[in-house]
Amino acid sequence: MQQEKDSTSRRSFLLKGLAVGGAIGTGLVVGGLPAFAEAGTGSLTQGDAAILRFLAAAEILESDLWQQYNELGGIQDSEVPGGSGNAAYTAALAVLDADMAQYIHDNTEDEISHFTFINAYLASKGAATVNLDKFRTLPSSKATGAQQIGRLTNLMQLTVDTSWWTKYRSRSKNPDFGDTFPPAIPGLLKGKFAAIPRSNADLAPKKHIQAIANTAGFHFGFIEQGGTSLYPSLAQRVTDAEVLRILLSIGPTETAHFQTWHDKAGNAPALTDPTNGLVFPDLNAAPFGGQDFQTNLIMPEPTIFLSRKFPVCSIIRPTETVGAAMGALKALTDDGLFIGQSQEFFAVLADLAKQADAAQRGV
Ligand SMILES: [Fe+2]
Repeated sequence: MQQEKDSTSRRSFLLKGLAVGGAIGTGLVVGGLPAFAEAGTGSLTQGDAAILRFLAAAEILESDLWQQYNELGGIQDSEVPGGSGNAAYTAALAVLDADMAQYIHDNTEDEISHFTFINAYLASKGAATVNLDKFRTLPSSKATGAQQIGRLTNLMQLTVDTSWWTKYRSRSKNPDFGDTFPPAIPGLLKGKFAAIPRSNADLAPKKHIQAIANTAGFHFGFIEQGGTSLYPSLAQRVTDAEVLRILLSIGPTETAHFQTWHDKAGNAPALTDPTNGLVFPDLNAAPFGGQDFQTNLIMPEPTIFLSRKFPVCSIIRPTETVGAAMGALKALTDDGLFIGQSQEFFAVLADLAKQADAAQRGV
């Protein structure tokens, strides 16, 4: 029992260290989290704890970005407090759907509940939890409605990959086979664009704030399709049945979000932003249009899965488990979401991802 007591006190130390963030030595965090992985798992396997911790981190990051959207374009209430709304941005989002503010609110609340639950579950098992508060250093929007607090994520310089649009429409390709997909909005890959107004100067002209709302509309889909793949990808390496239940229960809510956003993005009006030339083309007209771009084809098309010898199947894609956590981190980084973050932030996130990717089922 003495041994168990020792490991408990080591765990307590690490939990405390994580909770205060800054108290953790960079050697411990950046150097592959040796003690963290060894002593911070409690009664969970090392792999299950690592997978849950990476997911907690991903959900904290998601909550931070959704919180920014909600402050300016959602509904600020007791469920998702903070901010006071921005009328011009909210109206531009409402062009995509009259209920956009409600959907943004609900997506935000869901993400907050995800990281809060996963951290509470980790703690209940005596495992170290995740706290990224020390990295809340990025600036807020200066537009009316946003809180002036430090942020983890940057929504003002995004390079949004909209290939998820064609990926889910393809009947013959699958990213797990190495296939690539054209973006729905090529212009979004050719620069850095705001998905929230950076200041009140972004509220006009009308086509500019609409382009910002359109960018947000496609970014919502990008973020939630990532979560849609991440959970099934990592679930394949979970050991404990209850941890598997957590992943199988949270993951599909990301898919519910994605399905909604896929539908709404198709309502983004075709336009050219007069301030920067960003083009949102008519996806129903040439050279777009057809099955790969048509805006009402919002459900996944059947495609190749596991092997070409099988009949096509309507599936989440990708679901390859090897390198899934690092792949998710890279996608968010390439999105521009972390522009301005510190080296230490990237090191901590990379370590969490590496630990999750090292998890093995049954070990
Ligand atoms: Fe989530």
